[in-house]
Amino acid sequence: MPQLLELFASTWWAAGRTEAEARAIIAGSDVVVTVRERRSARLAGFARVLTDRTYLALVLDVIVAPGVRGAGVGAMVIDAVLAHPWVADARSCELVCRPDLIGFYRRWGFTDRVGQSRLMRRTADPALGG
Ligand SMILES: CC(C)(COP(=O)(O)OP(=O)(O)OC[C@H]1O[C@@H](n2cnc3c(N)ncnc32)[C@H](O)[C@@H]1OP(=O)(O)O)[C@@H](O)C(=O)NCCC(=O)NCCS
Repeated sequence: MPQLLELFASTWWAAGRTEAEARAIIAGSDVVVTVRERRSARLAGFARVLTDRTYLALVLDVIVAPGVRGAGVGAMVIDAVLAHPWVADARSCELVCRPDLIGFYRRWGFTDRVGQSRLMRRTADPALGG
């Protein structure tokens, strides 16, 4: 759990999460993917998914440890997420990202061309508003 909190702390949206919140997040997720460094077994990559296994899978908290970014860990994480049957069996897979990551996700077939759809959010989280 301390290593997951370190990963959360490296991001702009999850930095303030507590251990209790991290435990609740894990317990409430349908799919959790972790990548560990072979030698140290340290947590290098993480992602989680909420999915109804049929219509929609929502990918959340894709994070690679700052020291190992750019070495293929993020690709391993997304490969594993999309290979999971509870994700693969869903008709759509969605995520939210900043514009500079559109190119990263595009290689797996994600697109920002979503027709007339607009993201709407009701949030108590100041990091996600404005
Ligand atoms: C985004 C993130 C998960 C990518 O993980 P990573 O391990 O650094 O990425 P990888 O090394 O696996 O990159 C895989 C490929 O995507 C490319 N890529 C990486 N970031 C990219 C970007 N912003 N735009 C386009 N391509 C990108 C890499 O060049 C690499 O290409 P290659 O296979 O041709 O060499 C990681 O940088 C991260 O944790 N960032 C901070 C948290 C965050 O913003 N997460 C995303 C939330 S939506």
